Amino acid sequence: MIQEYSFSYRLAPSITDLSEQDQALVTAAQAALTRAYAPYSKFQVGASVLLQSGLVIEGNNQENIAYPSGLCAERVALFYAGANHPNDPIIKICIAAEGDLTSNDSYISPCGPCRQVMLESESRQTQPIEVLLVQKSGKVLFLNTVQNLLPFGFSK
Ligand code: THU
Repeated sequence: MIQEYSFSYRLAPSITDLSEQDQALVTAAQAALTRAYAPYSKFQVGASVLLQSGLVIEGNNQENIAYPSGLCAERVALFYAGANHPNDPIIKICIAAEGDLTSNDSYISPCGPCRQVMLESESRQTQPIEVLLVQKSGKVLFLNTVQNLLPFGFSK
């Protein structure tokens, strides 16, 4: 018999529905996006990464006049975490965005390469990474694991 599988996500109608820790993570991602270097796309993205130690890493998109040389916020944050805190497991990553490409009710949805990097960050450790995607309107979408953001991803 053919079996059917699905994935789940949770939606918080407002930031005030979040735990204090999650609210702080959203605030960190929103603060990070204000420091983005995005003169070409004018689309600012911020990512905050909560490590098990409690440390919060912030990243934002860093563009370049040679467009493909730039890097997304998620990878800036995750590679910084990998470079400086390789043994401090990642508990959550929160992503927020501002700019022409976002409407009030759209979530910033990570690009394919960022999903791939998130997947490997998760597979390097034993616990899953929770993903928080923030809407401009304040709604927050939660995924319990990167697996739900990149099903059938390429991994070991
Ligand atoms: N960008 C991110 O930083 N993260 C995403 O998830 C999607 C896109 C950046 C790349 C580029 O600097 C700008 O947003 C427009 O694509």
